Amino acid sequence: MTRYGVVGTGYFGAELARFMKEVEGAEITAIYDPENAALIAEELNCVATASLEDLVSRDDVDCVIVASPNNAHKEPVLAAARHGKHVFCEKPIALNYQDCCEMVEACKQAGVKFMAGHVMNFFNGVRHAKQLIKEGVIGNVLSCHTKRNGWEDEQPTISWKKMREISGGHLYHHIHELDCVQFLMGGGPEKVTMTAGNLAHKGPGFGNEDDMLFLNLEFADGRFATLEWGGAFHWPEHYVLIQGEKGAIKIDMQETAGTLRINGKNEHFLVHQSQEEDDDRRAGNTNSEMDGAIAYGKPGKKTPMWLSSVMKLEMQYLHDLLNGMEPSEEFVALITGEAATSVIATADAATASRYEDRKVKVSEILSK
Ligand SMILES: NC(=O)c1ccc[n+]([C@@H]2O[C@H](COP(=O)([O-])OP(=O)(O)OC[C@H]3O[C@@H](n4cnc5c(N)ncnc54)[C@H](O)[C@@H]3O)[C@@H](O)[C@H]2O)c1
Repeated sequence: MTRYGVVGTGYFGAELARFMKEVEGAEITAIYDPENAALIAEELNCVATASLEDLVSRDDVDCVIVASPNNAHKEPVLAAARHGKHVFCEKPIALNYQDCCEMVEACKQAGVKFMAGHVMNFFNGVRHAKQLIKEGVIGNVLSCHTKRNGWEDEQPTISWKKMREISGGHLYHHIHELDCVQFLMGGGPEKVTMTAGNLAHKGPGFGNEDDMLFLNLEFADGRFATLEWGGAFHWPEHYVLIQGEKGAIKIDMQETAGTLRINGKNEHFLVHQSQEEDDDRRAGNTNSEMDGAIAYGKPGKKTPMWLSSVMKLEMQYLHDLLNGMEPSEEFVALITGEAATSVIATADAATASRYEDRKVKVSEILSK
């Protein structure tokens, strides 16, 4: 058996624990959450520890799954590594490049495995797009465009996900699209410009993050990417669009359809594991209380069908990795820490650009 401890059992951590418990040869032995542990421990038939230290020092924990709020990932990752436990850490692993490096390095020094929870890498549509690009179907990728836009209504209580100092705001909290673009472009950009602001979400009922972010990436070989996020868009859009020399690929998560466009003809592929999952996500986007791109989970809520399915793939992958599987080329950057750290370096450059009103070289962040 491989025994897992989970730090943070709110919306995502509880679901990761449930899905890992279903994996053959996996057991959840302990959880730690200062507020939401009791019911989950009872449900999973495991121990709720009184402190983080109690969890990471247990002999019956081989790997720690970290799913606390974004600004509370570093402490459990360092503590787990110190106690010789393997680590799975939710995205964004930290809110600045230095912390990311420290966390990845601590795991390396301790000789434990590390995996970043960048779940979008496990989407069928993302994997298919990467395969098409690898096979040269759309030729060299020239540019990428992503949007994750919706409209956010006033909320009765403010989630930590809306507070910049805890979540990092849309740019860090929704790091998935930036990670995807960096993979598709073959690495991070050379220069970054971001304009952003809070235009329509100030006062009680709202957090303090920007509600509109426009990011421009310039790559060393002259190619470009543009990315948008925010809660101030009444026209909901959520996609990754890849423009190549010979064709284009759109992974549309709002309409939930994948399209390959070659010679003016469109070919369809699934974004998730089945047509049922794609249909379910599309329907959820239309019917949810907030636009799909910016809807948030909270403790006690269950993940939708498409997300549960991909989280199960991710947990199976982690478990196999801990049991001797070699990481495939496709996912190796999640294991080395490269994906998690380089994407935050770009986000930090974007943040510097936004606050200092200038174009920023990512090398500035890397050499700090
Ligand atoms: N990969 C994805 O698509 C995805 C989706 C949702 C959440 N997440 C990530 O999962 C993490 C948790 O998000 P969530 O949606 O479950 O939030 P949540 O608010 O539902 O749950 C967070 C839990 O952490 C607990 N907590 C607070 N401080 C803690 C600490 N210091 N130590 C341990 N636990 C603590 C809270 O009591 C709460 O139960 C975040 O990093 C988030 O970015 C990832």
